[in-house]
Amino acid sequence: MKLFRKLGIDLGTANSVVWEAGVGIVLDEPTVVAVGIEDRKVLAVGNEAKLMLGKTPEYIEVRRPLQDGVVADYEVTEAMLKYFLRQVMGAGWFIGPEVMVCVPAGVTQVEQRAVLDATLSAGAKKAYLIDEPLAAAIGAKIPVSESFGNMIVDIGGGATEAAIIALGGVVTHKSLRVGGNKLDQAIIEYVRKKHNLVIGELTAEMVKIKIGSATKLKRPEMMEISGRDTVYGLPKSLMMSSDEVYEAIIEVLRSMVGVIRETLEITPPELVADIADRGIVLSGGSVQLRNLNKLVTSEIGVSAHVAIEPQFCVIRGTGIAIENLEVYRRALR
Ligand SMILES: Nc1ncnc2c1ncn2[C@@H]1O[C@H](COP(=O)(O)OP(=O)(O)OP(=O)(O)O)[C@@H](O)[C@H]1O
Ligand SMILES: [Mg+2]
Repeated sequence: MKLFRKLGIDLGTANSVVWEAGVGIVLDEPTVVAVGIEDRKVLAVGNEAKLMLGKTPEYIEVRRPLQDGVVADYEVTEAMLKYFLRQVMGAGWFIGPEVMVCVPAGVTQVEQRAVLDATLSAGAKKAYLIDEPLAAAIGAKIPVSESFGNMIVDIGGGATEAAIIALGGVVTHKSLRVGGNKLDQAIIEYVRKKHNLVIGELTAEMVKIKIGSATKLKRPEMMEISGRDTVYGLPKSLMMSSDEVYEAIIEVLRSMVGVIRETLEITPPELVADIADRGIVLSGGSVQLRNLNKLVTSEIGVSAHVAIEPQFCVIRGTGIAIENLEVYRRALR
């Protein structure tokens, strides 16, 4: 057993992923925690807690301790990190690991401090922070230290973050606290207004993944959804079409694409020219939405492509950074 261990952690709004230096991804679970309402005890974390979403008795509350990419509930985040470290480190470790955690480029000092403190009090010996867009770019195999500009756009569960990377650092960036969760919410709203049907978050997410698309499909697809009728309060099912899903989410998608446009607007012209040549790289779980790259390409006029395993770009980059601390030290926060 190794005495000194190094970990990378991507604390996402939707999913948390842990990387162990020399090993790779060792944990990947939803960022969800179930706590007792009275005693605030943690009852379940990750997969187990996500299954409880929307189904708990009144003395249990299921929480997402990160909101819009930043720590919203400090105590619960710390408890969750403790659980993750225990899972990964196994029983009986004496020396805490060195941990690299990524944070959105736009976080405030206070938000940064919260992540560092939670990591240290969960048992890390040392904690470092890296900008998420830089981590995403490293993980997407973009040659980040070149003098050419590269654009990476990460769309996760809680946020959309666009950044231009050159010479090993973030040159310009913009972010919006809108991610895949907002797409789910838009579907919930649409179904409630149009069909008087209340559906849960998990159902909405499933609809998005199965029949969602960022452009209208030539051959529309259908899916059955179930929930509660808002008028009669009784169970109801109906068929939803991919055209309806498109209609429900397109405005949210446009606001995500807007972040890319705003970032280009504040970027020096030489670098914008590089982006026009090299295209835009997309990372994050939400870029797996069908045809999202097509929407970006047509709205921005620059070709966009989805990175390999986009949902793991950030953790891969964070892991590579902790494994090569000396190379990336200058770029850390
Ligand atoms: N095939 C798919 N199509 C569309 N969306 C998907 C697909 N698979 C996963 N998602 C969405 O990806 C999002 C999670 O992505 P990711 O794990 O990158 O988020 P995160 O890192 O936790 O969030 P953030 O970076 O915003 O804090 C969820 O909203 C999920 O619904
Ligand atoms: Mg993320």
